[in-house]
Amino acid sequence: MKEIEPKVLSKEELTRISSEINEEELLEFDKHFLNNFVEPLTVIEAKEPGSAWVKVRDKEGNIKEILDVTSMNWTLTLGFANPDVNYAVMQQMTRLTHVRYNVLTPARAKLCNKLAELVPGKLKGGRVVLNCEGGGIAIEAAMKLAMIASRGADHFGTFWRGYHGASLTTGSVSHPYHAINRFDNFGTGHFTRMPFPYCYRCMWNYKEGLHGKKDPGCNLECFQIVEHYLKGMAAKRMAGVIIEPIQGAGGHIPAPPEFLKKLKDACEQEKILLIYDECQTGTWRTGKYFTVTEKYEKENKIDVSPDMMVFTKGIGGGFPLGVLVASPKIKKRFTPSEEHSTFSSSPIAMTASLAAFKVIEKQKLNENCEKMGQIITKRLLEMQEEYNVIGDIRGPGLFIGIEMVKDRNSREPFTDLVEEMIQLGSKHELYLGQSMPILSFKGNMLMRNVIKIKPPIIITEKDAEFILEKFEIILKEALNKLK
Ligand SMILES: Cc1ncc(COP(=O)(O)O)c(C=O)c1O
Repeated sequence: MKEIEPKVLSKEELTRISSEINEEELLEFDKHFLNNFVEPLTVIEAKEPGSAWVKVRDKEGNIKEILDVTSMNWTLTLGFANPDVNYAVMQQMTRLTHVRYNVLTPARAKLCNKLAELVPGKLKGGRVVLNCEGGGIAIEAAMKLAMIASRGADHFGTFWRGYHGASLTTGSVSHPYHAINRFDNFGTGHFTRMPFPYCYRCMWNYKEGLHGKKDPGCNLECFQIVEHYLKGMAAKRMAGVIIEPIQGAGGHIPAPPEFLKKLKDACEQEKILLIYDECQTGTWRTGKYFTVTEKYEKENKIDVSPDMMVFTKGIGGGFPLGVLVASPKIKKRFTPSEEHSTFSSSPIAMTASLAAFKVIEKQKLNENCEKMGQIITKRLLEMQEEYNVIGDIRGPGLFIGIEMVKDRNSREPFTDLVEEMIQLGSKHELYLGQSMPILSFKGNMLMRNVIKIKPPIIITEKDAEFILEKFEIILKEALNKLK
């Protein structure tokens, strides 16, 4: 690799930008940062390149190491500062760091081709839109394409507890995002919200919808409501339906594959485009397959593939990337004024993404993801026998949500326990994540009671054991505190 030699500043001066911080700088930052939600620890660097562990600095200047079970917003599939990705990125950076949105680079062409090959079912061979801003913009691209393809329809079906982004538009696609911010999202009239199959809390009182599977006796009554909306009860003709096949932020809730199949069939009949948001579930996070859609197709022998699929998070190999893949059947293409932005085409993120795919494929990290997921889930199920507050454990792969309840009979959400556990996490060398808050219009917290275990898929058995051991210690300590 070409050595980078700075011309204006010293190497020491340039290195210091990212490698250290002092007390005074932190105090100044406290005064000037507008967002009020920054954690007290400063994240400094990977424990080792490509590790799930990271070095952090506390306010007193002590350095400690933490295992990140959140993969920094479910993103760092290959851990912190992966050396192979970084090598490819440094190579790219010595050549080009930025290009205009309509410029072709080798990485851009290769990534489009790779994605068209990787996507499942009827998306194979499809058309790809890339941006370097993330999932929300990719969701908006899917909405725009659906509007163009459906010739004027501008209404969308979305689902209770769905999360698709925080822009003024994707905030409206998401539900119930409006309850947790202080402004009205824009264009809420463009969306009809439909019931999502939350089998653990089934409104038809089926009680055996556990571990992400539907109750064996369930007749998918929830789908009958959805079907009514699709067939004419929505406020307007729908251009598309947007769904996470497994809801992430909303509480780690898988839609049963049978529900997705019915949804797909109904959408086809009604000529409504089906858009899967696999921002979280894509890129081997749920185990063996690139997407959860593919998992359902292969394991359940059921074709649930949508017309469009959206990705972000792990797909960028640790860099910002949003992707839309549309079925080759959709013949429409975007003009520049319909789909572009200043930073839509960073060659850095595209190179990182391609390098990450190569690492995952070569090291068979999808198999590791499945194996580590099984180890963690098995032990959590054993813990469930001991702790009545563990209500439900939902996978698959390293996409694990643990729903905490006051007791397993009532299933009353135990949000305080989860809040306590999150606080205790970093004290016990674990970054833990939780589901988004669900608030009433009066501002009462209805639930935020799912803890997430979604570490980088490179974790070792030793890491998995560490996570489990610490999880139990944290749970006990939190329960004691709340006594
Ligand atoms: C399922 C899902 N869709 C969309 C998004 C939005 O992605 P971004 O934050 O990159 O806009 C997220 C982010 O958490 C997500 O989880």
